[in-house]
Parts: sequence; structure tokens; C-alpha cells
Amino acid sequence: MAINETEVYEALKTVKDPELRMGIVDLGMVQSVTTKRNHVGVLVALPATGYAHRQELTQKVTSALQNVGIAHSNVEVSVMNDNQRSELVSKLRAASPSPGQQNTAPLGHEEGRPSQFMQSGSRTRILGISSGKGGVGKSSVSVNMAIALAKLGREVAIVDADVYGFSVPKILGISRSPMIIEDFIIPPVAHDVKCISMGFFVEENQPIVWRGPMLHKALEQFLVDVYWGKLDYLILDMPPGTGDVALSMAQYLPRSEIMVVTTPQSAAKRVAQRSAFMAKHINLPIRGVIENMSFFVGDDGKKYEIFGSGGGQELADELEVPLLGQIPLVPQLRQGGDNGIPITVSDPSSTTSVSFDNLAKRIEALGPTRVYRSELSVK
Ligand SMILES: Nc1ncnc2c1ncn2[C@@H]1O[C@H](COP(=O)(O)OP(=O)(O)OP(=O)(O)O)[C@@H](O)[C@H]1O
Ligand SMILES: [Mg+2]
Repeated sequence: MAINETEVYEALKTVKDPELRMGIVDLGMVQSVTTKRNHVGVLVALPATGYAHRQELTQKVTSALQNVGIAHSNVEVSVMNDNQRSELVSKLRAASPSPGQQNTAPLGHEEGRPSQFMQSGSRTRILGISSGKGGVGKSSVSVNMAIALAKLGREVAIVDADVYGFSVPKILGISRSPMIIEDFIIPPVAHDVKCISMGFFVEENQPIVWRGPMLHKALEQFLVDVYWGKLDYLILDMPPGTGDVALSMAQYLPRSEIMVVTTPQSAAKRVAQRSAFMAKHINLPIRGVIENMSFFVGDDGKKYEIFGSGGGQELADELEVPLLGQIPLVPQLRQGGDNGIPITVSDPSSTTSVSFDNLAKRIEALGPTRVYRSELSVK
């Protein structure tokens, strides 16, 4: 039976580019389709040389054709020319929410460029993952929580705002630089989560002395020059403290919700004071507490509370917010972070992965915060 081109295009419409996350037909990546009796040839134009997903995309095209009964196909790839790339950028721009109107100035920096996340009607929830001290698992929680939200069908991205100790790319297993198309930075995607990090732009082990305005500029670029598309969640892995990143974040992302990660030992009062001080300083609401390394289940099946117990609940009570989740201590979580395959991907039915799934559901159920701005309240 002869195959017609329309059928082929219909099948190709189901194929999404793994990084741009839109249909390859809509993006103009399908250059040509040829049909000869029961044989189909497809030429796909990639956005850039060195495009990371060449093989995956070829495979997806072949499978989409097989799904409609086209067993004999030949998928070839080329690279877009400048005109095609410009057209692609226009399409990406058209698909991006427009930036908000606010201008971002008051922190003593030069005027900033607005990002899409400033729009008051933006559907993107912005979750700032913070902690009272280092090493409690912020980055591990950010990544696994992001993957759990993506599993719920949400579009999720992480900004590694920890410019000193960036670790998100390694945990996600991304070792390539972002693709740059004209003036758009395309965030690499791993495990269905987009990510941008200072780690992509500086040499490893190269010490950087960041000054406030530089940090501010970097965050601005992450938010404005990166092609985020339509996101449900933007997760920020924040550095500890009330420093410049938090201030810039508050300015650029005034709708952010803060989640505090803590361990179970009881230092609730001190951590609460620090977190509350930080939140007040940057005028953002704390929405919940996530307790990490809550317990360890031994081979004997017994629960061991290695770092004590109750710290998460105490902190939540102190801050008057809910305890959103308790994540067990498991060696696989650390190993996942070391080898770039997070536990939520490598062992999705484990107790730990389920605890991240539950955390993601709690966050969904919590819903976005209603923005409270004292200057907007009726006096
Ligand atoms: N639930 C857990 N079980 C086992 N290991 C964990 C767990 N959570 C985090 N870790 C490990 O603890 C270490 C610190 O975690 P992580 O880097 O996520 O913390 P962080 O708060 O982001 O640290 P920093 O303040 O340095 O940015 C890492 O080696 C990580 O793999
Ligand atoms: Mg970290």
C-alpha cells in the first residue's frame, strides 16, 4: 500500500525535540519527506552542529513512523542554515510567555531587564530551596523533587543559583554546555528537567570572586536570556544565607515561595530564626519545611534515626508552615548524585523515590501562594 506524505507528517507531529520540547514539525525541523511505495525518507534539520540529541531524535522519528505502520524508513539529519535558525528562534520566541512589565531597579543596581517570571498571570511557580546551613541536601532534594514533579507531567526547570558550589549539573548527569542559538541559551535537559548552572560557563575548580552586581547580572541572564518555554515550576537551588543571590532572586522573582530543607536534629529554633530572618529580609514567604536524612532503614528492616528525630516538625511549627516531606537517608541517593542518575530515576519504586513523589504531590496540593505585598494592601 502506498504511503502518502500527509500521513507521514501526522506521525511526525507527535515527535518532540528532547531539548526544545516542542514538536519538530512545528519547529520547522522537518526539512523534507519522501515516499516511495512503502518506503519513507525523512530529513531532519538540527538546530546546531554538535547537537546532543541526534541519536535520540532519529530514534524517536523512526519509532513514530513504526507506530503508524511504516516499517521501512530512512531518517537523515542535516544542520540548519542561518535563515532556518532565525525562523526557529522566532518560533521559540513566539512560544515563550512574554516578559512582565515591572522594571527591576531598587537594589542599587542598574535597571534590569524583565523576565517572563515577573508577569503577574504567569503560570510558573517558583520554588526557592533554602536551608539554614550547608550540606543538608538542598541540591539533592531540589533535583529529585524536580524529577518527581516532572513525573506528574509538569514542565520543570532548575536554576542552580549556588554560584560558588554549583552541583546540580553533576547530580543531573549533564556534562555538556548549553546549546546557543543566536542570542538564546537553550538549557540542557536531563530526566525531563531543564537546568542552567554557572557550572556550564566556568572552568571547574576555577575560583570566582563574585561581587553583588556580577551575581545580579548572572541571575538576570539565567532568567532572561535562557529559553525556558512554558514552565510549571522553576526551582532554585539557593546558596545558604541572606546574601546577594537571595536579594537578586527576590527582586527578579517576586513571586517565589521558599522551602526550607533541614535535617532531623533539633536545632529548630536557630534554623527557624535564620530562615525567618532571610525570608523577611527578602520579603518572600516560607511555604514549608522538607526534612532530609530523616531515618535510615537497616538490612534488619529497622528504622534508625541517625541524626535524631523531630527536627523537621519542630522547625515547621516554629515557622508556622507545614512539614511537606521526610526523605530517608540512603546510600543510593548519594551514589545517584555522584553518577548523574538520581534515585528517582534509577529506582523509582524505592521508599526514597516514593517520598519524593509524595513531596511533589504535597507541593501541588499546597498551590501557589497569593502574593502579599504590603504596598498593595488596603489600608
Ligand atoms: N537523603 C540522603 N541520603 C544520603 N545521602 C544524602 C541525602 N541527601 C543528601 N545526601 C548527600 O549529602 C551530601 C550533601 O548533599 P547536597 O550536596 O545535596 O547538600 P547541599 O545542602 O546542597 O550542600 P551545599 O550546602 O554544599 O550546597 C551529598 O553527598 C549528597 O549526596
Ligand atoms: Mg548544594
